[in-house]
Amino acid sequence: MWNSDNQYLQGNYAPWREEGDAYDLEVDGEIPVELDGILYRIGPNPHFKPLGTYHWFDGDGMVHAFLLRGGRAAYRNRYVKTEGLKAEMKAGRALYGGLISGMNGELPPDSPPLKNQANTNVIGYAGRMLALMEGGLPTELKPQSLETIGYYDFAGKLNGPMTAHPKYDPANGDLLFFGYSPFPPYVTWYRADRAGNLLEARPIDTGLPVMMHDFIATDSHAIFFVCPSVFRFENAAKGLPMMVWEPEHGTKIGVMNRKSGEIKWFQTGPFFVFHFLNAHEENGALIIDGCRMKAVDMSGNDFGNPPMPWQWTLNLGDGTMSDRQIDDTMCEFPRLDERRAGRSFRYGYFAGRPGKQRGDLNFSAVIKRDYQSGKQEIQKLNGAMAPGEPVFVPKASSKAEDDGFVLSVWYDPAVDSSELVIQDARDFSGRPLARVKAPHRVPFGFHGNWLARGAS
Ligand SMILES: [Fe+2]
Repeated sequence: MWNSDNQYLQGNYAPWREEGDAYDLEVDGEIPVELDGILYRIGPNPHFKPLGTYHWFDGDGMVHAFLLRGGRAAYRNRYVKTEGLKAEMKAGRALYGGLISGMNGELPPDSPPLKNQANTNVIGYAGRMLALMEGGLPTELKPQSLETIGYYDFAGKLNGPMTAHPKYDPANGDLLFFGYSPFPPYVTWYRADRAGNLLEARPIDTGLPVMMHDFIATDSHAIFFVCPSVFRFENAAKGLPMMVWEPEHGTKIGVMNRKSGEIKWFQTGPFFVFHFLNAHEENGALIIDGCRMKAVDMSGNDFGNPPMPWQWTLNLGDGTMSDRQIDDTMCEFPRLDERRAGRSFRYGYFAGRPGKQRGDLNFSAVIKRDYQSGKQEIQKLNGAMAPGEPVFVPKASSKAEDDGFVLSVWYDPAVDSSELVIQDARDFSGRPLARVKAPHRVPFGFHGNWLARGAS
């Protein structure tokens, strides 16, 4: 790909640059008819040969939609036509720098100064589909055609970036999120209702401009991990990486009372978290689960540290904290039954790699981890097939936590194509219910969600 030795431009990291539609996909097994809706996936797909060294997070967002209905499946994929991508399409070449290369090329007049790639997550909210990237506003898409509408700013009330990892409050459908920037107060907490009204915006001074990819919340608290991947904006002008690992700061954990806004800080040694699984409260303590890396190096493409399942316990009474590794299976992209978000829960679903640890992020299995028994179940498919994030879809008829389906998109290097794999969450290691053949490979991406027909 573009004669590059960059691993994120090769194999199934290389972009798929054609948009298309395919109907009545070949299925091995049976798609449960209860699955009536669309699985959306999104990830980076550079449309043009990147300027300088490409970082995996730089690519233009492409949405892949698997439409399931009546036991049949269709597929559609489209680029998110962001303002930055439109400027590049007009110019016929890349114009914007990235995380490693820093500086932009010479921008034609009326091009946006920064590119919002809209490449990280895609969510349903208030009857809309939003493609998210933490450096900017959400980009709204048409849910069926995937056509790009433009920026979504909560009727003019959101005027800064929004995380790609908002949470739904299971009590009332509120959307809980934050945005961060390299300038004080660095982090802002937001709450919006399910209809699209932004109800709260509260600045949180973290004291340090860091990359904060995710957060986690309970019914009473919102928790922010200030890990020392520090935003050094001034580096961009020198063509140096903008994110610098500065372990001397350690990691600070801020616990905000959602009612009063009061924040309690916990200080600990340096580490990094991209994603949290969940948090819940038990006897005056906050228990947080996620995937922890010893450090993160954003100056290159080698993450260097495998993410491991981790648990932090914060005692809100006396301000003490402890943490532990859950087990020794590398894992990322944690998901759960979101009806349990912020509450006690039993199961987590991950993409991971059982066996010996390595530094890269190549997955070989999906994992169901039982946080009550400590056991895990593993689904591994033939050959070197590699999964992405597993999405749990509950059966509408059941409230039991693992009574539902797990949907994940796998790449099969033997045929250079991808499959949507549908599992019964209660028979996780068993033969998948259905393997839906995509019309071509779906590049390794980041996140996505299931939207049931008629839901918003
Ligand atoms: Fe993420």
